[in-house]
Amino acid sequence: MRRATITGWGKYLPPNVMTNKDLEKIVDTTDEWIQKRTGIKKRRIADEDTATSDLAIEASQEALEKANLDPEELDLIIVSTVTPDMAFPATACIVQDKIGASNAAAFDLEAGCSGFVYGLSVGAQFIESGLYDNVLVIGAETLSKITDWEDRNTCVLFGDGAGAAVLQATDKGGFLAFDLGSDGSGANALYMEAGGSAKPASLETVKNKQHYIRMEGNPVFKFAVKTMKRASLDVLEKAELTTDDINLLIPHQANTRIIKSARRRLKLDEDEVYVNLPELGNTSSASVAIAMAEAKENGKIKNGDNVLLVAFGAGLTWAAAAIEWNENI
Ligand code: COA
Repeated sequence: MRRATITGWGKYLPPNVMTNKDLEKIVDTTDEWIQKRTGIKKRRIADEDTATSDLAIEASQEALEKANLDPEELDLIIVSTVTPDMAFPATACIVQDKIGASNAAAFDLEAGCSGFVYGLSVGAQFIESGLYDNVLVIGAETLSKITDWEDRNTCVLFGDGAGAAVLQATDKGGFLAFDLGSDGSGANALYMEAGGSAKPASLETVKNKQHYIRMEGNPVFKFAVKTMKRASLDVLEKAELTTDDINLLIPHQANTRIIKSARRRLKLDEDEVYVNLPELGNTSSASVAIAMAEAKENGKIKNGDNVLLVAFGAGLTWAAAAIEWNENI
């Protein structure tokens, strides 16, 4: 059976580090509160003149190198982001041009922090159907650009970065199953109010600070705890696996309490879950992509391992993927 598998992975993090101590100087918060309630110690922040596509390009070039693939061989580029360079054209088209992927179709996909896993599922369908052979899926964000640096409820949580994966065809292993879902009744728990057709940008929207992330932390927390477990179990069932078969869980990096709860509910050991949240904060749709690239770099994923990706985010959405890792096609 023709399946999609990941043959290349890459990440890019802007060099500028912002610590909790730095945040103490900006809003009424403490390093202790942030670490205790979220697990985050620091995050990366892109320069003023760095766009999301700039991070995406760096991560993509690393992933293409790992896959030993020329950019001209790419058939499709999908960028998942809630912080595109602009409303249109798609950030994927900017990446397509700048990396020299002259034969690739390109589009953006928006599913909040679940977007990268959604993107993997879309890319995998194109490969399984036989329409395309080489697909690049990117999760990239510059959340610092839509963060209200006066709102302590949100500004302590987010960071910038990008991760990318090259998908190719295999007849052994690869993506075994996906589980995707949404509950739009939770749309107002996590959103950016203005700048779209419902409320176009105006002097008023700028004055009212409606171009920033707004979040109801508690409902999102409860949704996350519930869906991380349910999506994980659903995707494992579709893949005909159990939690005992999992070698590594790579969860969306939003809050260590959410990750811990998922780990306990799935009865996994600490070393079976990849966590980089303390160093990077929540990078939205880049989070699982970066964590996966790091896990590969750190030798946490070997060929033949069963890897489970699970994410939740604005929408509200969730997404999970079960992979039998096979990078040698
Ligand atoms: N520093 C200090 N105090 C803070 C604070 C900060 N940065 N942010 C909030 N507080 C305060 C609140 O004002 C509140 O004070 P009050 O009791 O006087 O009203 C108190 O801390 C507790 O707030 P609460 O919202 O109940 O905290 P919490 O334990 O739910 O933690 C989050 C808040 C945001 C960390 C948590 O709800 C969370 O992680 N939610 C999920 C968010 C998420 O994952 N978003 C991204 C989805 S992709």
